[in-house]
Amino acid sequence: MSSTSPPIPPLELSALEYELWQALIQQRCGLFFSESRLRLLRQSLWERLRLHHMRSYGEYYNYVLFHPGGDREWKVLLELLLNHETSFFRHQPSYHALVTHVLPALLGEPKRARTLCMWSAGCATGQEAYSLAMTFLESQRTQAQDFHVKVLGSDISQQALAKARCGQYKRHELRQLPDYYRQQYFTVMYDESTVMYEVNARVRALVEFRYINLCDPTTFPLPPLPGLHGLVGGMDVIFCQNVLIYFSRESRVEIVQRLCQHLRVGGYLLLGPAEVVGLQLPGVQSVRLADALIYRRVAPTDLTGTVSSLA
Ligand SMILES: C[S@@+](CC[C@H](N)C(=O)[O-])C[C@H]1O[C@@H](n2cnc3c(N)ncnc32)[C@H](O)[C@@H]1O
Repeated sequence: MSSTSPPIPPLELSALEYELWQALIQQRCGLFFSESRLRLLRQSLWERLRLHHMRSYGEYYNYVLFHPGGDREWKVLLELLLNHETSFFRHQPSYHALVTHVLPALLGEPKRARTLCMWSAGCATGQEAYSLAMTFLESQRTQAQDFHVKVLGSDISQQALAKARCGQYKRHELRQLPDYYRQQYFTVMYDESTVMYEVNARVRALVEFRYINLCDPTTFPLPPLPGLHGLVGGMDVIFCQNVLIYFSRESRVEIVQRLCQHLRVGGYLLLGPAEVVGLQLPGVQSVRLADALIYRRVAPTDLTGTVSSLA
């Protein structure tokens, strides 16, 4: 018979405790825990408070907020609350739109800068940022010969960013990647007995990873952005996919507004299909292309403090 006792199930989270935690989390990182995701919140809080030998969610709340070790604890808790699910070329209609519409439009602009700046906002473990770089390299073979690209991958999770910078993936993490890209842009290597695929140096050279909290404008890549040569008026392309679906409606609108402010005039924001539909912002047009949800900045309207609306 095993001597290990079964894990103690989490205590119920009272309405007041839920409100306190939700407000703190939303203010610090934007995540919203609806009814369907409440279990994850409760389980994560429970795991941490038990580890600290605390007895209630309130006691743990005070620790995170007021104890000298609270900031460090918050970072650990945050990692438990985040979802890093991702894959290469995840939302195919967006990449199709990028290749057939967005890149040709940008590259065809008269007198444009020779460097294209792309941003994967909420890049998790890096697959989206590398997919953008590979898409550009492929288009460079045909239409973008005279251009360079710089891709910024950003996330709030330091753990995810560390993996992104490492650029090594297991076979199952390449599941959506066409064989052609694997052969062209990856090198097989071995980590002990595990087969790993490493993103090739010429792709990695185009991508830079940074900590950016989408809810904290002070961490945003306001120009000048070292490393992103040619970035004067903002980004040409921003991908923000499967990030805002975990946020409240108000936070989503606020962040999209902020992201649009970081597009240069003529630049495109490609959201995930369910992220923020029907947004109306001054100087921003929605572009309808099959299943892709795209906004284009068409005028230099200052969007800071704009009250946006949902149609
Ligand atoms: C589900 S993954 C999506 C990854 C990728 N964009 C994709 O579509 O495959 C969501 C990512 O958003 C990040 N995230 C959540 N809140 C964030 C915030 N406030 N600022 C920046 N990144 C955030 C998470 O850490 C996570 O890596």
